[in-house]
Amino acid sequence: MGNSGGCDFATSFHIPVLCKAVTEGLITKTGGVYVDTTLGGGGHSAALLELLSPRGRVFGVDRDVEALDASCSRLVADLERGRFTPLRGNFEHIEQLLDEAGEAQVDGLVADLGVSSRQIDAASRGFSYLAEGALDMRMDMRGGRTAREIVNSWDREMLKEAFSKYGEEPRSGRIARAIVEARPLESTTELADAVRGVTPSREAIRTLSRVFQALRIVVNRELEALEGLLEASARVVRPGGRMAVICYHSLEDRRVKRFFRNGNFEREPLRDAYGNPLVPWKERMRKPIRPDAEEVKANPRSRSARLRIAERTERAWPPDEGAQTTTRR
Ligand SMILES: C[S@@+](CC[C@H](N)C(=O)[O-])C[C@H]1O[C@@H](n2cnc3c(N)ncnc32)[C@H](O)[C@@H]1O
Repeated sequence: MGNSGGCDFATSFHIPVLCKAVTEGLITKTGGVYVDTTLGGGGHSAALLELLSPRGRVFGVDRDVEALDASCSRLVADLERGRFTPLRGNFEHIEQLLDEAGEAQVDGLVADLGVSSRQIDAASRGFSYLAEGALDMRMDMRGGRTAREIVNSWDREMLKEAFSKYGEEPRSGRIARAIVEARPLESTTELADAVRGVTPSREAIRTLSRVFQALRIVVNRELEALEGLLEASARVVRPGGRMAVICYHSLEDRRVKRFFRNGNFEREPLRDAYGNPLVPWKERMRKPIRPDAEEVKANPRSRSARLRIAERTERAWPPDEGAQTTTRR
């Protein structure tokens, strides 16, 4: 395996990020059961399967059928041996997905958040402002709202709030107004042109990235899904098992950090009647692991990645009734 990255497991679909750090940090039992909750091109799953013993197993979850198809072709030998099992669905429903697969608890979970290179590069999926495509942005194309429905039907205030909250975009008001005035918008390039029209050219790339990120987060309910996964993770992972999460922006990283430290999404932990913190995870390291310069050079899309790893404590979860949540945010 490569030194810090995962280039040995790269495919044209996706280059796995921080692959060595994920497998080293996640595997506690080589004959254990692990879940790759964001299968994508199967890079992290392939790396786990290579390191696990013949008894070790991996479940791979994705809500995008193209990711499942690509990974099943790649991991066909492990699929046939029963070492790899694909599961289609939203990781928010991880307990139900595992339950249907006959598994109650596992030894580790990995989540490599966001979209794959294949999703970004396929113009027809609408994730990128660099290529002309329909304004779709759904990871699961079986249903749900598209980006097109949102930009053409939300009022100015709602668009402004979405760009500000999910893109941390300082010009959210001006951009929302420009979008409303340019309607109807059908394609990624029409949306990008409307945004460019009210953005200084030196800021265009950063602004377009933030606006497209915000829409993608809304379309896929990404932050709600992440919170659901974190809540469920403490029930799904056995005490002594681990969870590894790779985040690509601060909205994700803040949630993961708080849940690992506090057992909730607040600044303070839940506490029992005696004031003892009730936290189901213990962080393996305080600071997140970042890709080194070599990995960023080989895979520029890894540059914003931050990996956090935690170990499941013996604490029963959810905590007993009567536990106090703090009110400070
Ligand atoms: C960054 S890619 C993962 C790449 C993968 N680790 C690899 O090495 O190829 C993220 C993948 O997670 C999927 N995904 C994102 N959010 C999801 C969710 N809530 N439920 C299930 N899959 C999700 C996306 O469809 C995408 O295929």
